[in-house]
Amino acid sequence: MSDKTYPPSDAFAKNAHIDAAAYDKMYAASIKDPDAFWSEHAQNLDWIEPFTKVKNASFEMGNVDIRWFEDGVLNVAANCIDRHLKTRGDQTAIIWEPDDLETPALHITYNELHEKVCRMANVLLSQGIMRGDRVVIYLPMIPEAAYAMLACARIGAVHSIVFAGFSPDALANRINNSGAKVVITADEAPRGGRKTALKSNTDAALLHCDDKVRCLVVKHTGGQTTWIDGRDIDVKAQMEHASPDCPARPMNAEDPLFILYTSGSTGQPKGVVHSSAGYLLYAGLTHRYVFDYHDGDVFWCTADVGWVTGHSYIIYGPLANGATTLMFEGVPTYPDASRFWQVCEKHKVNQFYTAPTAIRALMGQGKEFVEKCDLSDLKVLGTVGEPINPEAWNWYNDVVGKGTRPIVDTWWQTETGGHLMTPLPGATPTKPGSCTTPFFGIEPVILDPQTGEEQTETEASGVLCIKSSWPGQMRTVYGDHERFEKTYFSDYKGYYFTGDGCRRDADGYYWITGRVDDVINVSGHRMGTAEVESALVAHADVAEAAVVGYPHDIKGQGIYAYVTLMNGVEPTDELRKDLEKWVRTEIGPIAKPDLIQWAPGLPKTRSGKIMRRILRKIAENDHATLGDTSTLADPSVVDDLIENRMNRK
Ligand code: WTA
Repeated sequence: MSDKTYPPSDAFAKNAHIDAAAYDKMYAASIKDPDAFWSEHAQNLDWIEPFTKVKNASFEMGNVDIRWFEDGVLNVAANCIDRHLKTRGDQTAIIWEPDDLETPALHITYNELHEKVCRMANVLLSQGIMRGDRVVIYLPMIPEAAYAMLACARIGAVHSIVFAGFSPDALANRINNSGAKVVITADEAPRGGRKTALKSNTDAALLHCDDKVRCLVVKHTGGQTTWIDGRDIDVKAQMEHASPDCPARPMNAEDPLFILYTSGSTGQPKGVVHSSAGYLLYAGLTHRYVFDYHDGDVFWCTADVGWVTGHSYIIYGPLANGATTLMFEGVPTYPDASRFWQVCEKHKVNQFYTAPTAIRALMGQGKEFVEKCDLSDLKVLGTVGEPINPEAWNWYNDVVGKGTRPIVDTWWQTETGGHLMTPLPGATPTKPGSCTTPFFGIEPVILDPQTGEEQTETEASGVLCIKSSWPGQMRTVYGDHERFEKTYFSDYKGYYFTGDGCRRDADGYYWITGRVDDVINVSGHRMGTAEVESALVAHADVAEAAVVGYPHDIKGQGIYAYVTLMNGVEPTDELRKDLEKWVRTEIGPIAKPDLIQWAPGLPKTRSGKIMRRILRKIAENDHATLGDTSTLADPSVVDDLIENRMNRK
């Protein structure tokens, strides 16, 4: 093999679910006969009515239709809870580790989870929530977030979680777009010793929503909130009175389980819709194989449930497997930079899954914070969200893994439901920075971006597409199937287009090179540049704005905004701060520009199209190779932008 590789140890491979020979055999089988492969694995779910059809999917533009197990009937919550009660009712399902060190951790057993979820489901029913109704969840990382998700699944309601870091405006947009009848929130969200006033954010959001939307409030910190009688409901109090039993509603395999809004290259975030059976099967199977999860292991995914990673690998995947899953309310650096490792030691974590941005931030704090903790229970380390630079990979491997734990670099997307390309820890020799090879049933292809032709040589680079459907694939964009087709199936006919660029090396390993569209990846969070631009131009002093990403040591990419002010408005530091604050309130803190450059003009073609290629180069401090600027309407604006660039090294 080219490059330095890290093969799994013989001892690890011997005890793993999948070794190299098994991977080859199963992968080949999954591609040759997907129906047989997935039908067999779907037997691991508990069906109320068995399915007779397996895969039924078309990627043909104008006729995109994706179904799996379409005549089967099951309930996702029953699969995540009820079916485990007989054998593991007293086993911990969820370990909850709070933000502060004074509050004790909770160990919630499968029996307790069942009771809480039933009570929460009954509260939702008492609010008139019915099958198919949408419920927005805007909660901190507390057990009630898990109860709420599973309660929705239990009664067939569709949840849509909004990350607690989003602003009232962003929340209102999502409540309105999904037509939710209820929003579930908490008084406050503690994180890193600070508190975000979620209820007052929700109050502000609901000013822009239908009067009929009810607000269920989890009194978590006990912090003061305003209270609107008739609209606001104390969930915990209601749960105490509710029945601890609630039948799990039989749902069709293709009924939507959740909507999750994610950023695209144009316009408003789109509501990614996931199915019940296919999604659950895929989340469960990837969780079991990719992390080599064994009964009794403690699994910790550090993501927030507001992102897809939290959906698939804190809640649905682990619970489908009867696992013990850890849910952490806090941040990696509070009270200090050893928190992650202290939590690993305290709860004897076996599989640890985090983002490169967190690794880079902790790497900068020094290895003492890791070394003082006992990490001997760790078996597998995982990363997700963005390409991991070899330096961070090596630190993760050497300092956290002591050179003996396999690292799984998992490439996937909100749209894919679970991992599409990743090593399997007992099977795949890894290479730092590569997500290696496809998971079962996944057929990645690299296309020439111009001609759309499949690159059949082993060594290739271009845009990454997937050739045929897998069970965890999103089914549609909520309320806009046309947008679904246009976004993912129109550029390259007959393929699912991922939006990522990719290289395949001589060993057939895949290396994600980043987005090829106007999506940037800030600390592993997806951000549409168009969203930030429309927030900026909504400010009274801004005439025009263009946003691009630039390399950032910790965040992976930072947000670089070029802003043209209205005639007569003076560019001041105060205005710059004001714009930062403005974007925070329009979208949320994660969208705050890192650098704002005042741009008297933006480089445009004669037809008025902004030449982002040039703006990206200047933001990257790479202005020596701007390429052809002769087609610009006014080439002189470029000189001014270079002269006043913000990212000087
Ligand atoms: C990027 C997160 C390189 C990629 C699960 C993708 C990655 C986008 C990796 C999806 C990885 C995710 N290596 N890049 N291991 N994982 N990405 O929807 O650009 O928040 O398209 O899903 O993150 O981000 P999303």
